[in-house]
Amino acid sequence: MIAPPVRPPVRLAVLGAGGRGADAYGRWVRAHPDRARIVAVAEPDHARLGALAGTTAARYPDWRDLVADLGRLRPDAVVVALPDALHVAAAAAVADAGLPLLLEKPAAPTLTGLTELAGVVRRTDARIAVGHVLRFAPFWRAVRALVEAGTLGDLATIEVRENIGFWHFAHSFVRGSWRSAAESSPMVLAKTCHDLDLIRWLAGAAPRTVSSEGSLLHFRPENAPDGAPARCTDGCPAAADCPFYAPRYYLDALRDVTDHPVTMLGADLSPAGRLAALRRGPYGRCVYHCDNDVADHQQTLLRFGSGLTATLTASAFTAENTRHLAITGTRGQLHGHMESGEIRVDLFSPSGRLPDVLLGPDTPPDVELVASGTDGPLGHATHTLVARPIRDTRPETGPDAGPAGRSRHAGGDDGLMDAFCRAVVDGTVGSGELSFATALDSHLMAFAAEESRAGAGVVDFGPWTATALDPAGRGSQ
Ligand SMILES: NC(=O)c1ccc[n+]([C@@H]2O[C@H](COP(=O)([O-])OP(=O)(O)OC[C@H]3O[C@@H](n4cnc5c(N)ncnc54)[C@H](O)[C@@H]3O)[C@@H](O)[C@H]2O)c1
Repeated sequence: MIAPPVRPPVRLAVLGAGGRGADAYGRWVRAHPDRARIVAVAEPDHARLGALAGTTAARYPDWRDLVADLGRLRPDAVVVALPDALHVAAAAAVADAGLPLLLEKPAAPTLTGLTELAGVVRRTDARIAVGHVLRFAPFWRAVRALVEAGTLGDLATIEVRENIGFWHFAHSFVRGSWRSAAESSPMVLAKTCHDLDLIRWLAGAAPRTVSSEGSLLHFRPENAPDGAPARCTDGCPAAADCPFYAPRYYLDALRDVTDHPVTMLGADLSPAGRLAALRRGPYGRCVYHCDNDVADHQQTLLRFGSGLTATLTASAFTAENTRHLAITGTRGQLHGHMESGEIRVDLFSPSGRLPDVLLGPDTPPDVELVASGTDGPLGHATHTLVARPIRDTRPETGPDAGPAGRSRHAGGDDGLMDAFCRAVVDGTVGSGELSFATALDSHLMAFAAEESRAGAGVVDFGPWTATALDPAGRGSQ
């Protein structure tokens, strides 16, 4: 399909004005009025709808109403930031209308849904970019540049540790929207399809086999402290000791935060409003008395045709909420910490050097070489880079204000919106890293991992690969 020429600012319609639609992408739009403008919003929550639509965008109570009006609205592109279960239907409807779209991950919460969506993409030649924001974070782009340049030699192992953070897990995966696999999706998809995508991206190929183990270890009724009531606010005797006591998080630790995750409590974010939300809503529930069933820890092992093996460890029981990375290769080793952006590279050969793309005049401004030495055990070269966003677009005052330095996926949210809006103008949504095909393998890897965890053992990934769903062979990158 030939895309009509688009001039900035790109005119966007947004489906779903929650954490992603409003806080992540809407915020970027407000910070870049010359690049994008929101012309229509669909959202059933009145306060959220008004906050994102402002005085100029058209308002709709449901995504279906907005999509039915696309012919009149004539946006340049659509952002689908709805709950997981609505992704396939909404993306198919927008694709049928012939518009490019940014579809939040997971593209589909089930294998059946993903297969259906792949069929829509084939039938309509849909231009769908999936919200794999981390591919656009400076940290992961720098790691990928090192791997692609062959700096580490042939890759032997990749280890990704997804430290979910005990408080974040309780918020999203015990009390919140991703607590039930049937209502949203398994944790390995909902939380770690980013990590599986990054491993796939670094490996440069789909895995041969996938195996996975894990369970819901802790957030079960039998682990509740003696006498714990249904809600933290009902006089819990364990309030002082329990790591998951809700008022400590939403009223104290996050008292200055007014966007995600506290926006999930409701519109009134005053102390009294927050307390009322904890007394009534899902986020005040005792973590041992919720209707949750997703795994709270899971380890996945992937084997690739080249001999490379990769592990992904996801755990609720971490202090940090960020990813750690370790890669070993035949000529070097890499350790990375996503939140700080630090990447340490040990190069084993005396002639080993960092690639020009990370050292020369074209080095991206968000990558900095902070130290080099020969302090390895055999006097080999070591380099420390820091790759993280140089700009924080968050203002000091106004509705988007907030504590500086919150990561927003280490710059990936901003990076994806920047790339998406550029691609809408260039007519390239649907190709390269902004293509549906690129996202397929990560989702299939997650479904295979869940099947393995459920008892299938080592799953042969051959029949699952993206080409099975995308016979046009556009394949992943
Ligand atoms: N890319 C990432 O890293 C990332 C991170 C978090 C969440 N997500 C995904 O983004 C999506 C949105 O997540 P979120 O955190 O913004 O959730 P959210 O619950 O904060 O936002 C979803 C919004 O959709 C609205 N909605 C529900 N039904 C609707 C309908 N019929 N029509 C219009 N709007 C409707 C809800 O009222 C809510 O405001 C989910 O699929 C989630 O898995 C992606």
